[in-house]
Amino acid sequence: MSSVSFRRLEKSYGSLRIVKGIDLEIADREFVVLVGPSGCGKSTTLRMLAGLESISGGEIRIGEKVVNKLPPRERDIAMVFQDYALYPHKTVYENMAFSLKVRGVAADEIKARITQAAEMLGIGQLLERRPSQLSGGQRQRVAMGRAIVRRPQVFLFDEPLSNLDAKLRGQVRTEIKRLHQAIGTTIIYVTHDQVEAMTLADRIVILKGGEIEQVGTPDEVYNSPASIFVGGFIGSPAMNFAKGVVQSGEIVFDGGEHLPLHRNGAGKANGLEGREVVVGIRPEHFVSAGEGQPLSGRVQVVEPLGSDTLIHFALGSATLTARVAPEMRPQPGEILSIGVDPSRIHLFDAATERALN
Ligand SMILES: Nc1ncnc2c1ncn2[C@@H]1O[C@H](COP(=O)(O)OP(=O)(O)OP(=O)(O)O)[C@@H](O)[C@H]1O
Ligand SMILES: [Mg+2]
Repeated sequence: MSSVSFRRLEKSYGSLRIVKGIDLEIADREFVVLVGPSGCGKSTTLRMLAGLESISGGEIRIGEKVVNKLPPRERDIAMVFQDYALYPHKTVYENMAFSLKVRGVAADEIKARITQAAEMLGIGQLLERRPSQLSGGQRQRVAMGRAIVRRPQVFLFDEPLSNLDAKLRGQVRTEIKRLHQAIGTTIIYVTHDQVEAMTLADRIVILKGGEIEQVGTPDEVYNSPASIFVGGFIGSPAMNFAKGVVQSGEIVFDGGEHLPLHRNGAGKANGLEGREVVVGIRPEHFVSAGEGQPLSGRVQVVEPLGSDTLIHFALGSATLTARVAPEMRPQPGEILSIGVDPSRIHLFDAATERALN
């Protein structure tokens, strides 16, 4: 088990800068999830840590040791890839045993480790099968088993669940969390699924264009997004955004609607008078409709989910989504009267897109 540290980590392909100076300290036993849109450099960062890709600048440490130039097999890292990369002609047992054999681990030790890992993952009855005789979820577990038996200092996962259907994804996600609780190894996990990030991570690292946009616990990135990008990326359905201007302790939206801003006692509006802002409101932070609520908008679409109802409504030129109680079922075309929990209103600078706090 080990800590991992990136200092000013850089990667360029020719003149193209892909990873632009990442600084990150990952603690021993920590579960860190890297998220971000396609092409932001998630896999490249993992591959540099694993030694599968050279670095163009900066430093990578595993524990106290600088590993910049160390070949992959000397880094004591196990990586689980999106496509599993199992050997098709080997059985499950042979797939799991292979890297241990190469490292000269004794046969009875290999057997003991495989038996233990297979039991942990519920694949004990599949050890004699070949990958073609397994379901996607079973293959995924074998790929994890193959990493576990190595007992590495650090596990790297690159979108390990993206080939699974939604239900299985949920199941295996829970298993990965259980696994981390059981073995406690440092895990760095890449996904572009924000639900996976929120549910698995001790800390989430949000990447954008090869740079870190924000690092924080799931609660921190959910409650205090540092930018419009993070606000929109974390949370589902996504945060609503609408442009407005701060006037006398209120937001005045483009369409003329007013929303009071009595946040933090004296008010979040302090020092923001006249400022153009983007207001961020999560769908779950609208408060129940009814007469006398500050906002009103025409209902466009209503989606009953059973557990709650999503209402899409127009506010000026913006369409907002509210998640409300399941029994609320307004009709399309109706005028909805709705408020917002004032402590949950996010304000971003309209020009820089950074949070105003
Ligand atoms: N060998 C290469 N030569 C040139 N550009 C590359 C090379 N490998 C990756 N890139 C570019 O680097 C960028 C980052 O790629 P990377 O695979 O790290 O993205 P990612 O965040 O993992 O995205 P995804 O979510 O799609 O997997 C992409 O724009 C990609 O096109
Ligand atoms: Mg990738």
